[in-house]
Amino acid sequence: MNRLIAANWKMNKTAEESVLFIKEFKKLMNNTGNADLVICPPFTSLEAVSKEIKNSGIKLGAQNMHFENAGAYTGEISPLMLKEIGCEYVILGHSERREFFNEDDSLINKKVIAALNSGLKPILCIGENWEQRVQEKTEDVIEDQLIKGLQNADKIKNVVIAYEPVWAISRGNAAQKPATKGEAEEAHLFIRKLLEGIYDEKSAKETRIIYGGSVKPENAKELLNMKNIDGGLVGNASLDPKSFYEIILAAKMGHI
Ligand code: PGA
Repeated sequence: MNRLIAANWKMNKTAEESVLFIKEFKKLMNNTGNADLVICPPFTSLEAVSKEIKNSGIKLGAQNMHFENAGAYTGEISPLMLKEIGCEYVILGHSERREFFNEDDSLINKKVIAALNSGLKPILCIGENWEQRVQEKTEDVIEDQLIKGLQNADKIKNVVIAYEPVWAISRGNAAQKPATKGEAEEAHLFIRKLLEGIYDEKSAKETRIIYGGSVKPENAKELLNMKNIDGGLVGNASLDPKSFYEIILAAKMGHI
């Protein structure tokens, strides 16, 4: 199973800045090894990035989408449009979408199903906030979001689960601390077991569960090489080509 390292640029970089990043990044990286590298720029950069990554092995992802292919949904982008532009992945249910745009599990589930039906690989984000962790509700929240998010999703091998504890996400603060490798591994193992229960042992083994929340060059090696951590979803530290490259290098030193 290829590991997966995805860059979530959030609402950062114009198309011009995005192209500059890819040019720089390609100079550092002459092959992607056996990891799937995915860049998820804003919608307005997708086309330019799609052209710039041609034949590089780097894959394209979007940060959100609507669940219908077309219709009267002002301001929305459809799975069909993402496919046309070259997307292979789409981040769904990110905690910022849940918190700032009121996305709930049932909406996220519709998007997961639509992505799978369109041949896109959803990166389904789940994770507890600090209050829920303190109240020892972490497992309940993860279980609830996973089960509801995956309802009727049968092509589980095409789904990537991103465990992102909300309290560890940097939101641009480079000093923010990630989960410890022990906390992250514990949650990932729990998710793996849940997947085994919903699907079967083989599917659970073959589904990538990646970690997100303040992954940086200095912690990537220990976090991303834990047994049940199959890669990372990187926000702030993916905005700079050198730091994103260092994360990939660190991750490769382990069990790839
Ligand atoms: P971060 O963001 O790496 O800046 O913490 C990760 C994410 O929100 O996906």
